[in-house]
Amino acid sequence: MCIPEKIEKILLTEDQLKEKVTLLGDELTKEYSGKNPLFVCVLNGAVVFFSDLIRTVKCPLEIEFFRASSYIGTNSSGDVNADESDIPDIEGRDVVIVEDIIDTARTLSKVKEMFLRHGPRSLRIVCLLDKPSRREVENFTADNSCFEIEDLFVVGYGLDCDQQFRNLPYIGVYKA
Ligand code: IMP
Ligand code: MG
Repeated sequence: MCIPEKIEKILLTEDQLKEKVTLLGDELTKEYSGKNPLFVCVLNGAVVFFSDLIRTVKCPLEIEFFRASSYIGTNSSGDVNADESDIPDIEGRDVVIVEDIIDTARTLSKVKEMFLRHGPRSLRIVCLLDKPSRREVENFTADNSCFEIEDLFVVGYGLDCDQQFRNLPYIGVYKA
């Protein structure tokens, strides 16, 4: 495999990602059978995780997309860009928000607040990676997170640095 020069090391391999995503899919299958849940992908970063995850969930579901961003390069801008008018119709639905990573948690806490105003029957937050040491919104956690990681800037499997590296099939540590 050709590893780009900007990748310091591989943190999570394709096999490790696949194993955890499949376990999560099994759990969600049990939880949501018969409920026709709505899985919402937070764009852009979650797109690869989302497309793998939904294929491991073995009950009927629907999908939607929602755009939210706060990062410029390797720094959180602090400003969360998300438009409440883009929220799909979730009233009375069992909603699963799928995100790539929780860092300061500013993005997801704002997204969660916005979604809750639209009357879902239930709301679950699922993320691939969690960096708890970077938290700024106190006590914010996902309902499910696949991997807890240290304070490292990572790319690949959907995650980017200035829009690059999303297509790497693994999660790599970015060399700043
Ligand atoms: P938060 O609002 O600080 O929790 O940041 C969440 C968003 O920042 C995520 O949805 C990612 O898009 C981006 N982000 C945070 N950490 C990383 C990282 O290590 N690599 C790539 N993107 C990141
Ligand atoms: Mg994201």
